[in-house]
Amino acid sequence: MTVLSGAGISAESGVPTFRDVETGLWSKVDPYEISSTQGWQRHPEKVWAWYLWRHYLMQGVQPNDGHRAVAAWEDHAEVHVVTQNVDNLHERAGSQRVYHLHGSLFEFRCDRCQDEYQGELPDMPEPVETETPQCRCGGLIRPNVVWFGEALPESAWQKSVDAVGNADVVIVVGTSSIVYPAAGLPELALANGIPVIEVNPEPTPLSNAATATVREPAAVALPTLLQRLPSILS
Ligand code: APR
Repeated sequence: MTVLSGAGISAESGVPTFRDVETGLWSKVDPYEISSTQGWQRHPEKVWAWYLWRHYLMQGVQPNDGHRAVAAWEDHAEVHVVTQNVDNLHERAGSQRVYHLHGSLFEFRCDRCQDEYQGELPDMPEPVETETPQCRCGGLIRPNVVWFGEALPESAWQKSVDAVGNADVVIVVGTSSIVYPAAGLPELALANGIPVIEVNPEPTPLSNAATATVREPAAVALPTLLQRLPSILS
């Protein structure tokens, strides 16, 4: 079993999604200003502050019943979690195989020599522009997340393609299914005759192609989804 998750699975933990019209992160800031290499080159202090703020937010949230259900499925099946999320809520809920396609809010590296950064991270209750730390090579320290226009981490991508291609069922939860290449993974599963179940209160571009859709929030749907699988797929 493979789970492909997006920001929606963390919404009930209080983590904002990206594209919700009112509360989404992209309704507050321009994604190409704050989450792209161009934005980083233009104003690193602004980008640095924004990711420190998101890192700070993560200290105040907990996994929800959706994350916990996915972790508990490991008692019944080999579960692979392919996530677009940069939070660590799947791991904190106990999931063992988690592949981060878009990086992590908890890893930092030099934008020149790629050395990992282990230094202090100030608390950032509000994103106030702050000087970025410098690496000894003179490069700037950046979050190890994938920005628009950047390639996905090769190893996480390969593990994700294998996990989807070898799955008996793929659960797609909490994603708007518009950002590629991640949004191409359910298509790969369907092309290989693997059932795809979409869990999302709202329809997405994947809904019509999905084998089945469950129009419920993740923390409501996932705890009982395993039991319902036979009836959902029949
Ligand atoms: N349970 C399940 N799904 C939910 C819930 C919930 N409680 N709340 C919202 N959703 C759904 C929304 O209906 C929406 O379809 O989650 C989806 C969130 O979509 P986005 O905000 O677009 O997030 P995501 O799909 O993860 O974005 C993909 O885009 O901005 C980039 O790199 C960023 O990883 C991100 C990528």
